Amino acid sequence: MKSQATAGGSAKLTIGDRSLDLPILKGSTGPDVLDIRKLYAETDAFTYDPGFTSTAACESAITFIDGDKGVLLHRGYPIDQLAQNSNFLEVCYLLLNGELPTASEYERFEHNITYHTMLHEQFDRFFLGFRRDAHPMAIMVGAVGALSAFYHDSTDIQDPEQRTISAHRMIAKMPTIAARAYKYSVGQPFVYPRNDESYAANFLRMCFSVPAEDYVVNPVLERAMDRIFILHADHEQNASTSTVRLAGSSGANPFACIAAGIACLWGPSHGGANEEALKMLKQIGTPEQIPEYVAGVKDRRYRLMGFGHRVYKNYDPRAKVMQQSAEEVLREVGDPNDPLFQVAKELEQIALHDEFFIERKLYPNVDFYSGITLSAMGFPTDMFTVLFALARTVGWIAQWAEMIEDPSQKIGRPRQLYTGQPMRDFTPIEQRG
Ligand code: CMC
Repeated sequence: MKSQATAGGSAKLTIGDRSLDLPILKGSTGPDVLDIRKLYAETDAFTYDPGFTSTAACESAITFIDGDKGVLLHRGYPIDQLAQNSNFLEVCYLLLNGELPTASEYERFEHNITYHTMLHEQFDRFFLGFRRDAHPMAIMVGAVGALSAFYHDSTDIQDPEQRTISAHRMIAKMPTIAARAYKYSVGQPFVYPRNDESYAANFLRMCFSVPAEDYVVNPVLERAMDRIFILHADHEQNASTSTVRLAGSSGANPFACIAAGIACLWGPSHGGANEEALKMLKQIGTPEQIPEYVAGVKDRRYRLMGFGHRVYKNYDPRAKVMQQSAEEVLREVGDPNDPLFQVAKELEQIALHDEFFIERKLYPNVDFYSGITLSAMGFPTDMFTVLFALARTVGWIAQWAEMIEDPSQKIGRPRQLYTGQPMRDFTPIEQRG
């Protein structure tokens, strides 16, 4: 990928008696960026930005977020339009290739994904090595890393064709691995993928069908599943995506990089928040308990899970679509008056009108309603983050591929502000007091 950034003048930086002109780079939209690549060489100083709150770590043309306006675009298309009019595989194609597919391109892509869904038969032994009570995310981290031991013919990252094959393999096999992680935890036989089902329906079948009876995929749940996948497909340079990029910057194979992303996603501040959000709603239990819980949040005893975001300082556009999906799913298979859904809606209203949350610009994020939806669909809580990982795989792999094709790509190597001991002489043990 050739840089698409344009020059936008320069900024003068003065350190003591030295001054330096820092080029300003302009993207197609979003804030300007100060190019500090020569800063250390010319001034002997680093920048300090723990958590990367003001640092662009790469150039990317995949996803754009305007956090103040609550806008999320994939290759320019708003997320709500994609969730309304597209399907997950089409969004995968868009993220990977930059444009929506023509009918024949879509057909070829769908065929490629569908025909890579099976796992090497020997692969199933990995699952058997885990304890039955293993968290399915633990299984995901291990199993996805193990893919690199099975598909050597797509680990040469310098070969564009192998990169494409590994991308297709991961998008195709992730539902099979995720469904096996679930089936293993409930002690049921693994279900093989079916090529005549949609991506979402095939996944639901692999999770919920049993050999003892026929399973008909409910079209409302199929659509909801597909939408949930779309909503989680990519989110620019979040923690797990940056982890994938950092792992990939050393030249590690794509399967290993995605396993690293899954490990990062697991944390409760990131993908693990959907699990925590549902636990929180259950803990609150009834709308009457909300004020007491909110008081605890204000006292900083705990955080309101499913609220707040590093980038969104407005309503997360994914949360709006997710709330609609929750309503559709509950109407179909649950209770639209589900007490947890009522707690969630009321909690949202209280938070949206409370000074503490308004001041800090804390709005519901995608995880606020996803737990209720997934739970009504029949998924246990510990599968929620697995579903996030499944859907985010395409984003990770698109970002990884973009990085590999970027001629300015270097191994990621942050510097530090060292505050430890300066150099000192070793003291023999008998002289230490
Ligand atoms: N509940 C209560 N207070 C909060 C929350 C929350 N969920 N989030 C932030 N704050 C407060 C925080 O205490 C701080 O207040 P003060 O300035 O008085 O100290 C202020 O808001 C800024 O917080 P921060 O921790 O500096 O913000 P951050 O950008 O580092 O954190 C976040 C972003 C997502 C980690 C955080 O909002 C959070 O922990 N949310 C709950 C977990 C969650 O829902 N995560 C899912 C994110 S969306 C899906 C994904 O991308 O994985």
